[in-house]
Amino acid sequence: MGRLEGKVAFVTGAASGIGFACAQRFAEEGAVVVGADLDTTDDWGQIEKVAPAAGFHSLDVTDEGAQNAAVAAALAEHGRIDILVTAAGIASGGPVHLIEQATWQRVQDVNLTGTFLSAKAVLPAMLSQRAGSIITIASVEGLEGAEGGSTYNASKGGVILLTKNLACDYGPAGIRANAICPGFIDTPMFRSVIGDLPYRDAIRDQHKLRRFGRPEEIAGSAFFLASDGSSFVSGVALPVDGGYVAGHAYGIAELFTQ
Ligand code: NAI
Repeated sequence: MGRLEGKVAFVTGAASGIGFACAQRFAEEGAVVVGADLDTTDDWGQIEKVAPAAGFHSLDVTDEGAQNAAVAAALAEHGRIDILVTAAGIASGGPVHLIEQATWQRVQDVNLTGTFLSAKAVLPAMLSQRAGSIITIASVEGLEGAEGGSTYNASKGGVILLTKNLACDYGPAGIRANAICPGFIDTPMFRSVIGDLPYRDAIRDQHKLRRFGRPEEIAGSAFFLASDGSSFVSGVALPVDGGYVAGHAYGIAELFTQ
C-alpha cells in the first residue's frame, strides 16, 4: 500500500520538470493526483501509465477564477484536497537597470501571486478538513542573492515568507506549510536558462556535491512533506540543493577528497 493512499494532491506546474516529478511520485505512492499547468502538451500522459491519474487542468496560475474553478472541479470529483504543490513558475534574470517593469511584474505574478492564489483556492477545503499540507516550490535563490537574479530571487524570497505566514496562520487548523528550496535542477527550465553557458560549471560547483540535481530528488522531499512522516514539520524553508547554501565553495575541498 502506498504511503499517500487516500490522499488527494493538487499540483501546479505538473506538465514538466519538478511539478511533473512530484505528481509522478505522489501517484506512485497511491495519491489521487490532480495536475494543472498552462502547458497541456507535455509529459502528463506518462503519469497515467504509472498510476491512474485523476485529471489534468489547463490553468494559468495568475488567473484567480481559473484557480478556483480547477480546485472546485477537483473537490467535486474527489471530495477533498490534502496536498498542494505549487511548482508552476518561470525563470528570469538580469540586473535591475535593464529589466522592463512588465518583465518584473510577470515574474512576480506567476511565481509569487500564482502561489498565493493556489493557496487561497485550496485553503477553504483544508480548513473544513482541519488538515492539509501546502508545499511551495521556492528556490535557493529565495534564500540569498545571486548575480543577475534580482526579479526571480525577489519572487522566491516572497514565496518563502508567504509560506512561513501560511504556517503561522493555519497551523491551529492542522494545516502545515513548507517551502522547498531547490538548487539547480536539470529540467526544461534549467536547460533553457543555463544550457551550456560559460558559467555553467561555476554554478554546478557551488553545489557541494559538485553536480546539478534531478527532478525526482525534489519530488522525494515533496513526498516527505506531503506524508505523515513530516507531521510535525511546518514553516520550514528546506534547501534541497546538494549543499548549495551550506557555504562558499572555492575548490579547496577537491585537494583532500580526490
Ligand atoms: P519547468 O519549466 O520544467 O516547469 C514549470 C512548469 O510551470 C511548466 O510546465 C510551465 O508550463 C508551468 N507554468 C509556467 N507558468 C505558468 C502559469 N502562469 N500557470 C500555470 N503553469 C505555468 O521548470 P522547473 O524547473 O520544473 O520549475 C518548477 C518550479 O521550480 C518553478 O517554480 C521554478 O522556479 C522552481 N525551481 C526550479 C529550479 C531549477 O533549477 N529547475 C531551481 C529552483 C526552483
